[in-house]
Amino acid sequence: MANKLWYSRAIAAVATGALTVTLAACGGEGAGSGSGAGDDSNEEGGLVGVAMPTETSERWIADGAAVEDGLKEAGYDVDLQFAGDDIPTQQQQIDAMINAGAEALIVAAIDGTTLTGQLEAAAAQDIPVISYDRLIRDSEDVDFYVSFDNFQVGVAQANALLNGLGLVDENGEPVEDAPKGPFNVELFAGSLDDNNAHFFWDGAMSVLEPLIEDGTLVVPSEQTEIDQAATQRWLQENAQSRMEDLLTAHYDGNEKVDGVLSPYDGLSRGIIEALRSAGYEDDAMPVITGQDAEIASVKLIADGVQNSTIFKDTRLLADQAVVTAEALLAGEEPEANNTEDYDNGVKVVPSYLLPVTTIYADNIESELVDSGYWTAEEVESGVAETE
Ligand code: BGC
Repeated sequence: MANKLWYSRAIAAVATGALTVTLAACGGEGAGSGSGAGDDSNEEGGLVGVAMPTETSERWIADGAAVEDGLKEAGYDVDLQFAGDDIPTQQQQIDAMINAGAEALIVAAIDGTTLTGQLEAAAAQDIPVISYDRLIRDSEDVDFYVSFDNFQVGVAQANALLNGLGLVDENGEPVEDAPKGPFNVELFAGSLDDNNAHFFWDGAMSVLEPLIEDGTLVVPSEQTEIDQAATQRWLQENAQSRMEDLLTAHYDGNEKVDGVLSPYDGLSRGIIEALRSAGYEDDAMPVITGQDAEIASVKLIADGVQNSTIFKDTRLLADQAVVTAEALLAGEEPEANNTEDYDNGVKVVPSYLLPVTTIYADNIESELVDSGYWTAEEVESGVAETE
C-alpha cells in the first residue's frame, strides 16, 4: 500500500516468509502472533486490546496495523494479536488482554458465536467491546459495531456479475438490447460462522434470484442455498476444490461457465485456478467477482482475468474503530448510522457502516492508485512493495 510503511512492512512479512519466523517464534500458527503492549509505552491513555482473526489475508494485516497506529496516535497502548484463524487461540488472546488490564477491546471474530465467555468477563469489568467488521453474535456485551455496508457488498458483487454478462450498466441499471442468455453461473458464499457471509449472500441473492427465477441465469449445479455454496473459513483451497467438483459434475465438453459469484478475492483466485486446470484460458474466463482489492486480484482485474472486486477502505474502518473506542472510553455514546440491521441474536447492536466501491479495470487507477491504497507498480506486478 503506497506511502504506508506499516502496511508495507506487514505485507513484506507475508511476502518474504518472515511471517513464518514470527509465528514460529510464538509457537506456530495456532499460537497466533502480535505486538505486545510493552513497547512504546504510552503514559496518557490506557491499554486497548485488538484481536484480529488471521494474517493469511492482506486485509486483516492492514486492519490490525491501521488500528494499532491510530490508537497509538490517540495516546493509547496497544496489544495487537492475530489468532491464526484458530478459535481457542483467539479466546485465549482476549482472556489475556483482559487480564493485562485492557480498558477496551476491538475484536474481529473468527467465529462470531464463540466469544460469549470472553465478552462476559469484559462486561464484568466494564470493558467496552467494539465488534470490528464482523458482528459478534449471541452476546449482550457487544457495545458497538463498526463495519462496511455488508448487504450492499453483496448487491455490488451481483451487479458486477450482471455487468460482466452485459445485462446491466456499472450503476446496476438494465441495459437496452441486453443479451437474453441464458447464462450459466455458479454461486459461492463465505464461511457460515461469519455473520458477514450471510449479509453478502442475501445482498447478492436479492439481485440474482429474480433472474434465476425468470431463466436469464441458470445454475447448472442447482446449488442455490448458502449452505451449499459456503466456503469454510474463507479458504482459497476450499473454493478451488468445490469449483473443480462443480466443473467435473455439471459441465460436460459443451457446457461452459459464464459467471461465478465469488464473495472474496482469495476464493476468486482458487476458482480461477480450478477453471485454468479445466482448460479455460485467461482471456476467456467467466465473469468472476471478488472482495477486498487484494493486490494479486487487482492485477488479475487489470489483466482482464478477474472481472471485479469490492474495495473496502480498511484505513477508514480503522479510523472509525479508533474514534469509537475514544468515545466509549470517555463514557460517551459513539456516533451510529445504523441502529436497525445488526441484530446479534440477543440485541440490535448500534453500528457505523462505511460505503464500498466496485473496482473494475477502468477505475483501478482512480480509486486504488490515486488514493494511495496501491501504487501503480504494485498493480503492475501484483505484489505489494516491501518498503
Ligand atoms: C470480511 C471480508 C473478507 C472476509 C474474509 C469478511 O468478514 O468482511 O472483507 O473478505 O471476511 O476474510
